Amino acid sequence: MTDLQSIKTRFGIIGNFPVLNRALQKAIQVAPTDISVLVMGESGVGKEFIPKIIHGESRRKHQPYIVVNCGAIPEGTIDSELFGHEKGAFTGATSTRKGYFEVADGGTIFLDEVGELPVQTQVRLLRVLESGEFMKVGSSQVQKTNVRIVAATNVNMLKAINDGRFREDLYYRLNTVQIDMPALRDRKGDIHLLFRKFAIDFAEKYRMPELVLADDAIHYLENYPFPGNIRQLRNLVEQMTVVEQERMVNSVKLAEYIPIQTQLPAVIQKGSGISSNEFNSEREIMYKILFDMRNDLNDLKSLTSELIKNRENSDLSHQEKNLINRVFTPETQSQNPNSILYFENQKQYQNSSVISKADEDYEDVEDIEIEETKEDSLSLQNNERELIVKALDKHKGRRNKAADELGISQRTLYRKIKQYNLED
Ligand SMILES: Nc1ncnc2c1ncn2[C@@H]1O[C@H](COP(=O)(O)OP(=O)(O)OP(=O)(O)O)[C@@H](O)[C@H]1O
Ligand SMILES: [Mg+2]
Repeated sequence: MTDLQSIKTRFGIIGNFPVLNRALQKAIQVAPTDISVLVMGESGVGKEFIPKIIHGESRRKHQPYIVVNCGAIPEGTIDSELFGHEKGAFTGATSTRKGYFEVADGGTIFLDEVGELPVQTQVRLLRVLESGEFMKVGSSQVQKTNVRIVAATNVNMLKAINDGRFREDLYYRLNTVQIDMPALRDRKGDIHLLFRKFAIDFAEKYRMPELVLADDAIHYLENYPFPGNIRQLRNLVEQMTVVEQERMVNSVKLAEYIPIQTQLPAVIQKGSGISSNEFNSEREIMYKILFDMRNDLNDLKSLTSELIKNRENSDLSHQEKNLINRVFTPETQSQNPNSILYFENQKQYQNSSVISKADEDYEDVEDIEIEETKEDSLSLQNNERELIVKALDKHKGRRNKAADELGISQRTLYRKIKQYNLED
């Protein structure tokens, strides 16, 4: 079997990070078999090396190797591209055409961006993978082919399956062996090596002296998240080689090209494994915001708990009561129809299971578990209903005023009115 180093040299692969070595080693190992391989990894991590290694190290190496970018072919023509078509199959089909699966017979097809395949094409692909059989578009004649498939994706396939965009059976069929390519930010040690390699390549290409990294620039790059991975680093070196006068690159210069703000999404992404497309970055920013909000809420709970403790024997203002109710009501009121809206007086709130539990646990507010007995819930519900009736009466049915008085949103009030059949 070919050794790792000679593969790296042959394909121009730079890096020594163990996860990268393992991925390459796995490709070498599965190459002589006909097993389907799915390569996963963010955009720009070097997924395209894997099918090349697999084909080049297999018995098929003298047969065709075809790369199909599934995301770049329009939905209307992809079946015809992959499986061919008969003359007259559709407008413009003036002659019979062979598809890639026929042309690549005996060889390998690399299905790049396989997550983008339309569902109807996925059905055809599953059939050819399972039985080697396919039909040209517009034909009813079954043909046979012998093609090895390597597929790649930078989208989260499990999510695509959940969303109904990708067939689960096809996913498992493609994914007989999975090879994960690590993100650049997870292999910091390789960043300087890659920079040097690209600096040499582009110096030669543009007949310029090589760029050199100052120490602070190495540090900057090693802490930059590289959402575009190696492709981004490569483009950066190319641009700087051409544009910059000074050959010594420092962190200030780098910051002009890859500013620090863009680090946020990927800092959060760290260790997420796959995909750094815009959707994921945004989603992860949202997670971060939600996470921060949760922390804020916990702080608020602690604060409120302190307030309760310190003010146990004194009267609480109307506003304070409302705040306490809102903070200690489980989740949102909308999720719990028995949630407590409002306590009419201090005694009621002290007797309620919600607050007594909170009082016991005020030192460990985060672990508060709300326990409501059915009885409590019923009496609280009655109180809640009565209060709403009173507030509506007082404001002659004007719901906005009643909601204000009760310290709840109008939407919550509408829901409660419905819940208690108070609509008339
Ligand atoms: N380890 C590496 N050593 C040298 N060059 C690399 C390495 N990894 C990636 N590259 C280079 O980075 C660029 C991007 O790699 P590639 O096209 O394989 O990315 P990809 O994972 O297929 O991304 P996408 O999902 O966007 O298609 C290519 O120019 C490739 O040659
Ligand atoms: Mg690619």
